Amino acid sequence: METNKKVALTFNEGRDTIEMPVLAGTLGPEVVDIRTFGKTGMFTFDPGFLATASCESKITFIDGDLGQLYYRGYPIEQLAERCDYLEVCYLLMNGELPTPAQKADFDKKILRHNMLNDQMFTVFKGFRRDAHPMAVMVGVVGALSAFYHDSLDITDPHHREVSAHRLIAKLPTIAAQAYRYNKGLPFSYPKNGLTYAENFLHMMFSTPCEEYVVNPVLARALDRIFTLHADHEQNASTSTVRLAGSSGANPFACIAAGIACLWGPSHGGANEAVLKMLDEIGSVDNVAEFMQGVKDKRYKLMGFGHRVYKNMDPRAAIMKQTCDEVLGELGLQDDPKFKLAMALEKIALEDPYFIERKLYPNVDFYSGIVLSAIGIPVSMFTPIFALARTVGWISHWNEMISDPQQKIGRPRQLYTGSPRRDVQQLSDR
Ligand code: CMC
Repeated sequence: METNKKVALTFNEGRDTIEMPVLAGTLGPEVVDIRTFGKTGMFTFDPGFLATASCESKITFIDGDLGQLYYRGYPIEQLAERCDYLEVCYLLMNGELPTPAQKADFDKKILRHNMLNDQMFTVFKGFRRDAHPMAVMVGVVGALSAFYHDSLDITDPHHREVSAHRLIAKLPTIAAQAYRYNKGLPFSYPKNGLTYAENFLHMMFSTPCEEYVVNPVLARALDRIFTLHADHEQNASTSTVRLAGSSGANPFACIAAGIACLWGPSHGGANEAVLKMLDEIGSVDNVAEFMQGVKDKRYKLMGFGHRVYKNMDPRAAIMKQTCDEVLGELGLQDDPKFKLAMALEKIALEDPYFIERKLYPNVDFYSGIVLSAIGIPVSMFTPIFALARTVGWISHWNEMISDPQQKIGRPRQLYTGSPRRDVQQLSDR
């Protein structure tokens, strides 16, 4: 909403001063509305969007300095403690937590969509067996756009809702099959007597000859990982989904674009990178030498630092508690890899290099350890992040499409290439 404040911009070359309104949200810093700035014939320059709000949103709020994260106004700590993941999905999509009846209805809708069209299995089979599961996810989720022609009118709110339900329901099935295909295991099917997290574990690990007995502590830990990764306002992958969707593109194709962006090691690939780093360090004896390399900027300490949180990532605090529960349940506290992770965490939290730069462990530091303890292979960490984040992506996509002021996203640039020049004939070059 507009405040009575204005920001005046003066030029040192005799142009008129321009005034720009200051807008205030319900939480967070005020923003300068620069939409009239274009009248100057200039653009603003902000690579990496460090000082730019790309949209207005009512879904998620982060205060990076205070280390706070709210979904629709609810603190993440309370949601992780009191709700299951599907309640959180309902909240993100609809703006309010469900009543018991709404929750039962929502769970049923998600269950109804969790199977894949049988032809999808042919799509999986087009990939090499050794393909990274994220490559398979990008392809298979993109391929969903070739199905479901019955509900692809993005101007129809009901069609958008059905697409959202399909995505939330099918992503665990797709992720589990990407893993099974890589392992040469037969495809598996969801079981509707299980919860969302239990079902994922069942689809990952059951075989035709042996049922997977789900440990409730592990299912709860996974459900928490899903909740903590469900949304994170305008991060790189969500912004990618919004930008792709701003052209009116198919929702499944937009989510595939989000998955592609998430794959990078600075974003969703970090939890995988944490485990690779632990393997590289090898043992607690090598930590001091490794830390010196970090300080010499030869490499980064993966799972530390965040673009927005300059305080403890609130998701990391919850995940650390879950990490302790899971390692305790599985009797893994003395496992060398997990001991090494805890030694790294301790040193980094006490070392001036990290303290001065406000580098704290982020959610991926602990989620990688929890997933690894559950028995999930490292290559599946980012697919799990993707399946959990799908609800955030689709909620942002839906918010954008239903905004009457929505425009195609089209950033400008500061061009520093060659000035105009003429093409010489090939023989003259
Ligand atoms: N290890 C060592 N030094 C670091 C690290 C790190 N993980 N992260 C930042 N720094 C240093 C960086 O070198 C710089 O030092 P200096 O001031 O001396 O030049 C300073 O801290 C500020 O870093 P920055 O690059 O300006 O920070 P950023 O906001 O651009 O980067 C980040 C954020 C997440 C990309 C980065 O911290 C990083 O690469 N971390 C490791 C990867 C990781 O864990 N990513 C997961 C993020 S959480 C999941 C999600 O929400 O997607």
